[in-house]
Amino acid sequence: MYQTNQMDCLKNLAAKPFEGFPDGFLWGAALSAKQYEGEEGRGTTVADLQEYDSENTKGARGDLSLDEIEERLDHPERFCFPKKLGIEGFKRFEEDLSLLGTLGLKAFRFSLSWSRIFPNGDDRVPNEAGLAYYDRVIDCALSHGMQPIVTIYHDDMPVSLALRYNGFLASEVGDAYMRFAELVLDRYGSRVHWWIPFNQPNLTRISLSSLGVVKDRVQNLEEAKVQALHNKLVLGARVAAYGRGKHPDIHFGAMLADFLVDPLSCKPDDVLLATQKNEVTMYASADIQLRGGYPRYYCRLLADRGIELRVAQQDLDILSENKMDFLAVSYYNSNVVEAGTNSIAIGDALPNPYLEATPWGWTINEKGLLDHCLKYWDRYGVPIMIAENGIGEVETLGIGRTVHDGYRIDYMKRHLLKLEEALRQGVDIFAYCCWSPLDMVSSGTSEMKKRYGLIFVDQDEYGNGTHDRYPKDSYAWYKKVVGSNGKVLHLV
Ligand code: BG6
Repeated sequence: MYQTNQMDCLKNLAAKPFEGFPDGFLWGAALSAKQYEGEEGRGTTVADLQEYDSENTKGARGDLSLDEIEERLDHPERFCFPKKLGIEGFKRFEEDLSLLGTLGLKAFRFSLSWSRIFPNGDDRVPNEAGLAYYDRVIDCALSHGMQPIVTIYHDDMPVSLALRYNGFLASEVGDAYMRFAELVLDRYGSRVHWWIPFNQPNLTRISLSSLGVVKDRVQNLEEAKVQALHNKLVLGARVAAYGRGKHPDIHFGAMLADFLVDPLSCKPDDVLLATQKNEVTMYASADIQLRGGYPRYYCRLLADRGIELRVAQQDLDILSENKMDFLAVSYYNSNVVEAGTNSIAIGDALPNPYLEATPWGWTINEKGLLDHCLKYWDRYGVPIMIAENGIGEVETLGIGRTVHDGYRIDYMKRHLLKLEEALRQGVDIFAYCCWSPLDMVSSGTSEMKKRYGLIFVDQDEYGNGTHDRYPKDSYAWYKKVVGSNGKVLHLV
């Protein structure tokens, strides 16, 4: 975190002008299997059961009761399930990666579908066709000059595991996850150097979509949530231990969904709430993964709330011996909290009133990205990957079969310039992945109309459309940025 040679640092900074993004910077884009691939060739996942409801787009709930799950499984015709369709990525990945290769990307972040490799999560024999599919994806990305960045689990547990064992609360699911993770590390570890065991574990919620947990089977929701988070973090550390033993040159990332909040005002109660909320919802999981153990404030919180964590000494040893190498952050917006209005729970916040927002109420705050990078660097001193960053908008294909998404260019440019400033201030940032290369099914609401892509996909929530791909203005703009290693950010 601090310059090892202070004299060099003091002299060099004065003598040598800052040169912008470093050579070898990983300019990338990110997507997930559940939003991209579609269900062909794989088993049903918990994500598949998140319906799209045009009357209630906030209603694509993950916290389904057992009855609701059974109804969805037995009568799929009663629902619209866009994640079953994805955007036909399973069939079209070569065309998509070729477009991203032409853009000049240096990195491609994607996730593995557990149910493509083990349709029920813990089948005796893995599905070779599924494994071979990812061989092709990885080889194709590499052939186009992109480093694969692999998320092992991005919230798409095989539904069979959720129903039989209740998701990440169960040791059987942990064992199945480890078998899946070890298999993919064995198979792809020599070609993939960047691994993220879990997408955003700090966003763990007691729900089917997040944890594979059926809510009505849980008695104490808060305790279950803390336990499931613990289970995931120990699994992540075990994955790192296994992977490092097999392939010395691979790196593992702790990932945070960036929910750092600011106080709405400087009233001491607002300030204190923001600090405590950030500790519990953000820093706790990163502290455990990057500092190697439970921070005291978190132990205090558990004790105060009467939560008894089932934890073995071996778990704590695994966590302390297998810290993650880098911090992966997904940053979209920033929010504020007010004492008396907001609770400590993640996501319970207000939009910052000083900021503009998207149609979905997501505020735009590039200065927040700089602020948070400085905070993470000061706290952890490990290299940072921006694993996701982007803007969702309503878009239609216009004249010339493209989309003039100047607002996306503006959003990305503002954030990238602040990232450059963070680099200038000494933060070690080695990758930036925009979300997303193509329009995809929204994770939260299963909509297609919330479009994040550099490339338009002609498809609606019901799968209507040609599914064809059309690069937007932002695609051409990002190409220039990547091609100049960020230099044109100041010009275009
Ligand atoms: C991130 C998730 O937190 O948010 C992505 O990792 C998701 O999967 C992204 O797509 C944006 O959220 P949404 O709900 O707008 O798709």
